[in-house]
Amino acid sequence: MTRNIIIAPSLLAADFARLGEEVRAVEAAGADWLHLDVMDGHFVPNISFGPLVVKALRPHTRMPLDVHLMIAPCDPYLEAFAEAGADHISIHPESGPHLHRSLQRIRALGKKAGVVLNPATPVESVMWVLDLVDIIMVMTVNPGFGGQAFIDSQLPKVAALRQAIDATGRDIALQIDGGVTPVTARPLLEAGADTLVAGSAVFGKPDYRAAIAAIRQPQ
Ligand code: DX5
Ligand code: ZN
Repeated sequence: MTRNIIIAPSLLAADFARLGEEVRAVEAAGADWLHLDVMDGHFVPNISFGPLVVKALRPHTRMPLDVHLMIAPCDPYLEAFAEAGADHISIHPESGPHLHRSLQRIRALGKKAGVVLNPATPVESVMWVLDLVDIIMVMTVNPGFGGQAFIDSQLPKVAALRQAIDATGRDIALQIDGGVTPVTARPLLEAGADTLVAGSAVFGKPDYRAAIAAIRQPQ
């Protein structure tokens, strides 16, 4: 576990009446990236926010804005999120007809590109686009809501992706999203994850600094 661990608090669990304040608080508490969950009520059964909120938050932080698109189709909105100030744009293979083309588009917009695998989505979905990805994210819950139970059947998927990433010799983040806590972080880091999204395990706690430190150095 000598890897540098990135912690990305998910804004979904923040107080939406005080978003700017919440973002500044997690940054001051040691967060590395800010994870922004965009939901359309169609690709996932929930609706969150769009590029206007990303744009509004951009001046409030120096953290990379890690945008997780749970919208279909995703292609018509890539430019809007890039212009809003997203640094990373991650998409699900199921959210458009041509994953390779969407990733090319994100790269052409000057952003880091990510692929997100749902619990039932096989690792093979990303194997032929590895040259175009900067981030591979494994969902350890079904996308749509914060605070769900961790799906531990995904641990072997994380280990398989670690091997595939190492074989590329490229710097690709192996990110986990869903049910991350100080308890679930340990097996995830052991399986080779290096980037952990955490919503309720950070914003749901009274002390953000202690919460982030507990995930970074699991018991
Ligand atoms: C779920 C989102 C997650 C969510 C995680 O669709 O992609 O980022 O905010 O929430 P927790 O960490 O509470 O499981
Ligand atoms: Zn997410």
